[in-house]
Amino acid sequence: MSIKREHWGSRLGFIMAAAGSAIGLGNIWKFPYMAGENGGAAFIIIYLGIVFTIGLSLMLAEITIGRHTQSDAINAFKKFNKPAWSFIGILGIVTAFVIFSFYSVVAGWTIAYVVKSATGAFSGMDAAAIGDTFGGFVSSTVQPIVYHGIFAALTVLVVLGGVSGGIERASKILMPVLFLILIALVVRGVTLPGAEKGLEFFLSPDFSKITASTVMAALGQAFFSLSLGMGVILTYGSYLGKEANIGRSAWQIALLDTMVAILAGLAILPAVFAFNMDPAAGPGLTFVTLPAVFEAMPGGYFFSIIFFVLLTIAALTSSISLLEPIVSFFSTKGFTRTQATIGAGVLAFLIGIPSSLSLGAWSDIHIIKGQGFLDSASWLTDKILLPVGGLLICLFVGWVITPIAIREVSGEGEPSALVKAWIFILRFIAPIAIVMILLTGLEIVTL
Ligand code: PHE
Repeated sequence: MSIKREHWGSRLGFIMAAAGSAIGLGNIWKFPYMAGENGGAAFIIIYLGIVFTIGLSLMLAEITIGRHTQSDAINAFKKFNKPAWSFIGILGIVTAFVIFSFYSVVAGWTIAYVVKSATGAFSGMDAAAIGDTFGGFVSSTVQPIVYHGIFAALTVLVVLGGVSGGIERASKILMPVLFLILIALVVRGVTLPGAEKGLEFFLSPDFSKITASTVMAALGQAFFSLSLGMGVILTYGSYLGKEANIGRSAWQIALLDTMVAILAGLAILPAVFAFNMDPAAGPGLTFVTLPAVFEAMPGGYFFSIIFFVLLTIAALTSSISLLEPIVSFFSTKGFTRTQATIGAGVLAFLIGIPSSLSLGAWSDIHIIKGQGFLDSASWLTDKILLPVGGLLICLFVGWVITPIAIREVSGEGEPSALVKAWIFILRFIAPIAIVMILLTGLEIVTL
């Protein structure tokens, strides 16, 4: 007996949920500082090229597998009678826990920053003083773990509601709110006196900054930002009905994700330049430079609160997509949704604790390449887990189930030139590019 699979209420609901997964800390926290460090517009151009070739192809590949099999990421491969490939799904579940472990910690900081902004904790401080406060906060033992716990609990609450009643409903409310806040912040940022320098930096390309390692960084960022390579989009695609146009959906999700990354850059970088601060401040751009910018800006109190609310929303719709594939799989193993969600949520919370401690009490513990838990988890995700997962998915769709995949996307008709290009990318271009990320990430090849 098979139980009818839960489906999205509408295709729009799916787009909002999948875009919610894609749009996250990767877009708002990471993308602007990566662009800041890697030559501004030149980085963006390379990034766009990658997203709309390799990224889009892989996104469509994942949706295709999910929609065709109507299964979670592990059982999907069994349905094709290729049980060995279900390793991809197992790897995906491991990856979900690894990403959750640092994602939820950083998302906890964003909740803390909503509180700090609202209570005026940074009032009158300059960047140096804010940097000290930030350092003191993240290296303390209890507070960041409590915020990480609050964030994990919020994630569990949404996923408990189910696919259409929880994830879809939350995404359909939160995503429009996210867009409105972001637009308000862009308008504020670009109308500040002195914003032109930031706009110029962000929008006029300096190709001399582009090196092979920039290209690799853009590739890794595209995977992470689009939530690819670990079965999240596959799982979301499995809740789609046969009538949905998946080619168009993949394109819309990639477009929304990229728009938000660029809007986040437009909200942040012009403001940073307007107050003569450093655009290449790295991960501290959001938590140190920006609060200082808000302190100096007219209306900064209000804009600071809504900025960190925006970050929290973006992180939440992504973290629910990390939990859902785990829940979806364990629901096939005799657990109820409630049991699977609470069990996975508690485990994910516990796995995150060392990441949080690695910035303070456990800073002497080194895991990979002399890095602590948090940096190791992020390194492992970007450089190994997502590329390996993505590579296997490309090869599977491009070489193993090609005719089924083509039919899933184009129906019974002749495949269009675009569909042929898709298969070509999955067969050759994406695998070569991904192997390059792996080799450079592991420093087998240095560029
Ligand atoms: N795409 C999310 C972001 O940009 C992160 C994420 C990766 C979420 C993989 C789910 C799966 O922040």
